[in-house]
Amino acid sequence: MSNMKLNYGIYTWTLILLIFATSLVVAGRDFYKILNVPKSATLNQIKKAFRKLAKELHPDKNKDDARAQERFQDLGAAYETLSDPDKRKIYDKSGEEGVKRHGDDGGFHDPFPNFFGDIFGGGGGGGESNVPRGGDVILDIFVTLEEVYSGNFVEVVRAKPVARKASGSRQCNCRTEMRTKPLGAGRFQMIQEQVCDKCDNIKFVTEESVLEIEIEPGVLDGFQYPFTAEGEPHIDGEPGDLIFIIRLQKHKKFERKNNDLYINLTITLQDALNGFDVEFPHLDGHKVKLTREKITWPGVRIRKKGEGLPAHESNTIVGDLFITIDVDFPKGELNTDQREAVKTLLNQQSKHNLYNGL
Ligand SMILES: *[C@@H]1O[C@H](CO)[C@@H](O)[C@H](O)[C@H]1NC(C)=O
Repeated sequence: MSNMKLNYGIYTWTLILLIFATSLVVAGRDFYKILNVPKSATLNQIKKAFRKLAKELHPDKNKDDARAQERFQDLGAAYETLSDPDKRKIYDKSGEEGVKRHGDDGGFHDPFPNFFGDIFGGGGGGGESNVPRGGDVILDIFVTLEEVYSGNFVEVVRAKPVARKASGSRQCNCRTEMRTKPLGAGRFQMIQEQVCDKCDNIKFVTEESVLEIEIEPGVLDGFQYPFTAEGEPHIDGEPGDLIFIIRLQKHKKFERKNNDLYINLTITLQDALNGFDVEFPHLDGHKVKLTREKITWPGVRIRKKGEGLPAHESNTIVGDLFITIDVDFPKGELNTDQREAVKTLLNQQSKHNLYNGL
């Protein structure tokens, strides 16, 4: 009997040790935890979480926090792994170690540039400089109200001229310089001269690059997403910027005013008098319920708190939905009996009131 117990005990210990050992191998950072998303998160959720945290954890914004740099790097690594379907699969199976083992270089590719434009507030701004600059490219990007309600990511393939080395050389960095030319006997002549350097020849080749833009929830019509240096290149200088401007498309049913949404709802005269119970789909498909017992007048505006758009600047502020009721009266004419019935039912005195609406 006691022998059995002992065996059982040993077995349990071995098991615990085994589990411990496995978890040591698999150990590594918990990327899901770092991004604060569930294991089942969609790519969009991952991107969204990354973007939000990248803003919060950016070292420039957390100068007092000694660990800020490290946390920011953890975030970058988490995003890099989970946003790549192949790497994510490996990670799910065998953790960060697994990804490293599979990884060709294990190097950290900075996922921050080329993502969302300048979410961190611009590249420092070189101020006034004399460096020639290519043109800015400004593009409208049309978004639906659904996208503004829920947020979305769009990829834009940009065919961009990229400078490549070509054979031969060219004059570059030309400037005017003053030279002194000795004329003998302590006399000099000052002359202005055009001086140039010799540079490799350059040709522009069109290359496609994919830019990712987040349609942030609540983004306003006319909002700009700049991508530094993605504009037109300049042969001797810096490229211009690429700027996307959000243009909100008209929606068939909803209208937007700031963070509030407006919609019209037609009900029957019968429902207007008896009350009603309707459900209609919101922009993301969730149902908006409207229940009324009271008599509803045409033109009445019912407010559904918190059913508007999230504010762009703050996710905790949400607008309202205003539903304006329109009453669909029956057509035609009532017969004598029906008229009597309405009279008894409503029991209203005839009354005529002229007014001018002021
Ligand atoms: C509701 O109807 C009114 C009157 O027809 C119209 O002016 C308004 O634009 C409509 N609102 C929406 C959200 O479509």
